[in-house]
Amino acid sequence: MRILVTGTAGFIGSHLAHRLLDRGDEVIGVDNVNDYYDVRLKEARLARLLDKPGFTEIRKDVADRNAMEALFRDYQPERVVHLAAQAGVRYSIQNPNAYVDANLVGFMNILEGCRHNKVEHLVYASSSSVYGANETMPFSVHDNVDHPLSLYAASKKANELMAHTYSHLYNLPTTGLRFFTVYGPWGRPDMALFIFTKKILAGEPIDVFNHGHHKRDFTYIDDIVEGVVRTLDNVAEPNADWSGDQPDPSSSKAPYRLYNIGSNNPVELSRFIEIIEERTGKKAEKNLLPMQPGDVPATYANVDDLINDVGYKPATPVEEGIGRFVDWYRGFYQV
Ligand SMILES: NC(=O)c1ccc[n+]([C@@H]2O[C@H](COP(=O)([O-])OP(=O)(O)OC[C@H]3O[C@@H](n4cnc5c(N)ncnc54)[C@H](O)[C@@H]3O)[C@@H](O)[C@H]2O)c1
Repeated sequence: MRILVTGTAGFIGSHLAHRLLDRGDEVIGVDNVNDYYDVRLKEARLARLLDKPGFTEIRKDVADRNAMEALFRDYQPERVVHLAAQAGVRYSIQNPNAYVDANLVGFMNILEGCRHNKVEHLVYASSSSVYGANETMPFSVHDNVDHPLSLYAASKKANELMAHTYSHLYNLPTTGLRFFTVYGPWGRPDMALFIFTKKILAGEPIDVFNHGHHKRDFTYIDDIVEGVVRTLDNVAEPNADWSGDQPDPSSSKAPYRLYNIGSNNPVELSRFIEIIEERTGKKAEKNLLPMQPGDVPATYANVDDLINDVGYKPATPVEEGIGRFVDWYRGFYQV
């Protein structure tokens, strides 16, 4: 298949593109390679992709309407995985406009491209952060998510709503994937595992928010990629049992689906740090701090629908996944 993947210089997008190329798909990779974090890491991810046959790099901004129109027209992708976005909860407090441009305007351009070019299936990244102030655990796609706690979360929830209108109006099959704290080799420098590993190896103190009591459903990158590929192959269909009397948020009369992709096994941040200490062989010096604005104390995914519909549940133990990250980090940065 010819698949447009956005965010291919990014953490998840680069791993996904490798997986699709390895199974013989053609990948059109879009990324603007912005400097939200270390551009050398993004370029290094892209360089590995450019070594493989079937990969075409397009360096453009998804918020650029004319560029996206031309891209869809020129390449006519059969399916689209849209991962390009301004990520990060904390940065959305400092720079909210970045989220409007990349996550709202950018998403709109992708929807229009899919609509006008008869794309068979749009799979896009949502986030566990949409659960916001919800406290019923594990988080279920069948619950309402109307209380986001950051503009990042609101932009992802808005994507789900925008997707529904296109599924309804234009019969565009869309699947939204709520990722739960993804980690692994080639990971993001703004996320806890990267920051902690870097500082622990350098003998510097680490800031531990919520005194280490945060719980996160850490999900290993290969498990996420497996879930994305399986949902991409399983085109969203209308739910014949859906009723407007009792509207289930996760499906519709239109070809629209939402899934959680998480490991269904939350781990406390303090345990996460212990594993990094074990894998690096160094003790962390911890600055215990209160919770940050926009943060939620726990995330925990109910993945029953993913199991039922695509026969899969993420399963990599966090000890193994952190080990692989630390090995990659040491090799890449020569530490
Ligand atoms: N990593 C996680 O734990 C996690 C959790 C929930 C949701 N997500 C979502 O998954 C997706 C991928 O996340 P990631 O961790 O790989 O992040 P990432 O920042 O590594 O990748 C995103 C990529 O998109 C690109 N990009 C950003 N804005 C763009 C724009 N306007 N035009 C073109 N390219 C642009 C960036 O340059 C980057 O390479 C994002 O939508 C993110 O919100 C990630």
